[in-house]
Amino acid sequence: MKKLLLQLDSNRLASAFDEVVAYDGGADVVMQRGGATEADVRDLIYGCIFTRGPKDLNNTAVFIGGSDMAIGEKMLAAAQKTLFGPFKISMMLDSNGSNTTAVAAVVKITRAVRDVRGKKILVTAGTGPVGLRAAGLFAKAGAVVTITSRKEEEGDKARTAIQSRFGGAIAVECLRNASEAAKVLDAVRPDVVLNTGPAGVLLVPKAAWSNRQGLAVACDLNAVPPLGIEGIEVNDDGKQQGGVTTFGAIGVGGFKMKVHKASIARLFERNDAVLDAETIAELAAGLPA
Ligand SMILES: NC(=O)c1ccc[n+]([C@@H]2O[C@H](COP(=O)([O-])OP(=O)(O)OC[C@H]3O[C@@H](n4cnc5c(N)ncnc54)[C@H](OP(=O)(O)O)[C@@H]3O)[C@@H](O)[C@H]2O)c1
Repeated sequence: MKKLLLQLDSNRLASAFDEVVAYDGGADVVMQRGGATEADVRDLIYGCIFTRGPKDLNNTAVFIGGSDMAIGEKMLAAAQKTLFGPFKISMMLDSNGSNTTAVAAVVKITRAVRDVRGKKILVTAGTGPVGLRAAGLFAKAGAVVTITSRKEEEGDKARTAIQSRFGGAIAVECLRNASEAAKVLDAVRPDVVLNTGPAGVLLVPKAAWSNRQGLAVACDLNAVPPLGIEGIEVNDDGKQQGGVTTFGAIGVGGFKMKVHKASIARLFERNDAVLDAETIAELAAGLPA
């Protein structure tokens, strides 16, 4: 029986990246629905659960993507609400690679510092899908998390979203551009800096982080020049730089791909898996980073 993955993407064009990984993770057929909304979910899920008998439903699964985390969360909730009795299929939420990328970064950073409890973690540009998930996972693990945004209201919105989803107390700092990074790092005095800013935007100049007392790890997820944290190379994967352990986007990205593919494979092992930040983190804990 063919393994079918329904790819619901809130963007007009469903992600080609997610489609490729779906095949590489073990799907035989990917059924893409771009521009999907919360209101579309119920009937699309009905199409999946009423066609094959309950005992074969581990061969059908749902992947939810798109660049809007809040819409992704609503689609996942709507999909879960549609299931009943034996009519269940596995599902995964990964808006913009949020969960798989954040989990990969969190695992690498956690292994470098050993224990994040009580550690001060600064997530720059932490209002996008990846930053929201990384900040949430760190907060849930007991870290003291600060996110930055260019705009106070976006920072506040992200803080509320993270706290209501993961708990913990998130602080917000305004970081409009790279010239303000040193001031923000002076205020936060982080043990860890994780940059989740967009592709091609430098947010943390080298002078703001190198030789900074207390800083143990710096990790940049932006792979497109100019990189987000100056002085970290994309392939850095635990490189020591003056007492700071550094990770670049490809250094983290190799593990992200392993986590993403393993998550797709997991969807077809059973018919009741719900892969979101915490469950993907559990799965990643068993993989070599
Ligand atoms: N290495 C990997 O395997 C991997 C995988 C997936 C994604 N990524 C990378 O991870 C990063 C985060 O992804 P994402 O989708 O969460 O990011 P995103 O949503 O594109 O951007 C994150 C935040 O950056 C801020 N921002 C936008 N334009 C900016 C600008 N010109 N200057 C400063 N800040 C700006 C916005 O926050 P405010 O409006 O609140 O300031 C936005 O919410 C990206 O660099 C992406 O390419 C890496």
